[in-house]
Amino acid sequence: MEEPCVHVSDLRKSYGSVQAVDGVSFDIEYGRVFGFLGPNGAGKTTTIKVLTTLVHPTSGTVKIFGKDIVKHQKEIKKKIGVVLQEPSFEANLTVERALELYGLMWGVPSEKRRDRARELLDKFDLASFKGMKNDELSIGQRRRVQVAREFMHDMDLLFLDEPTVGLDPAARRILLDYVKKHVKGGLTVFFTTHIMEEAEYLCDEIAIINRGKIIATDTPAGLKQKYGGVKAVEIKLRDSSAQSVMHIIRPIAGSSSIIETPAESMIRISSADAQEMLMKIIESLSKDAVQIESVSVNPPTLEEVFLAVIDKEEKEA
Ligand SMILES: Nc1ncnc2c1ncn2[C@@H]1O[C@H](COP(=O)(O)OP(=O)(O)O)[C@@H](O)[C@H]1O
Ligand SMILES: [Mg+2]
Repeated sequence: MEEPCVHVSDLRKSYGSVQAVDGVSFDIEYGRVFGFLGPNGAGKTTTIKVLTTLVHPTSGTVKIFGKDIVKHQKEIKKKIGVVLQEPSFEANLTVERALELYGLMWGVPSEKRRDRARELLDKFDLASFKGMKNDELSIGQRRRVQVAREFMHDMDLLFLDEPTVGLDPAARRILLDYVKKHVKGGLTVFFTTHIMEEAEYLCDEIAIINRGKIIATDTPAGLKQKYGGVKAVEIKLRDSSAQSVMHIIRPIAGSSSIIETPAESMIRISSADAQEMLMKIIESLSKDAVQIESVSVNPPTLEEVFLAVIDKEEKEA
């Protein structure tokens, strides 16, 4: 069998007494998009930093392109790209110049550099501010430049750490589609996000990470199926606002996720025991003479699945 593009086995990284990554294992096949999902502090960035040789693992094995990252650091670095969360380039360079310089840094020949910069300015919708300096840009614009410039050089594996933070929906779509196009051309991608729809749109496989541990790995469809017990209950009230009944709902729903939808008489709650919870809620609302217009039980979004997995993990811990 062919070696995977990325092989991670029992990876650990601690900072003093903090176990940032606590025994993580996974493989990524060539040409696939692997998504890492988890709340703040879960260990996503630390994993990326270890995999891109920016920090040393405390223990465990990481092989990229079949080679150990500690022993073959230089060789591996040549063929990977990484976009970290923290912006990292000169404040007074123009967008166009920043792309050019990045290409130069990677040893891209000058003609190719110019062509690429032109293509990226166009594809990432950056052309209209190519003459602006980095610190004159909005956060979203900077992020787009940061991702675009990574495509200045050829790479076999790309790490993207929450690349869409600060982007509007259109810019998000442009970025994800651009990445998708390169995946079709053979690029392998490691991607972190906390937005489920994005993971679903881009990833072939998703690992959910919480407190340094992977708590679920599957395809987006598989995750939905596995946590299919999770249902979203929607309750529409007749004459009361959702706000006015929260004191009744909250004690029953517990730590389940409650979404007070903009339609203010609507409450949406996701739970693994939706039926039972619903019965209790109906009973309590009737007792308080709150009138219910309608009730429906719906499939959860991936976001709700994610919350349920973490909720379950926390209860069992
Ligand atoms: N350089 C560091 N020194 C000490 N603790 C760190 C450092 N970097 C990250 N951590 C801690 O490690 C944990 C995981 O952080 P991180 O990998 O950044 O999570 P995520 O990217 O999922 O938000 C957090 O508790 C964080 O505070
Ligand atoms: Mg992070």
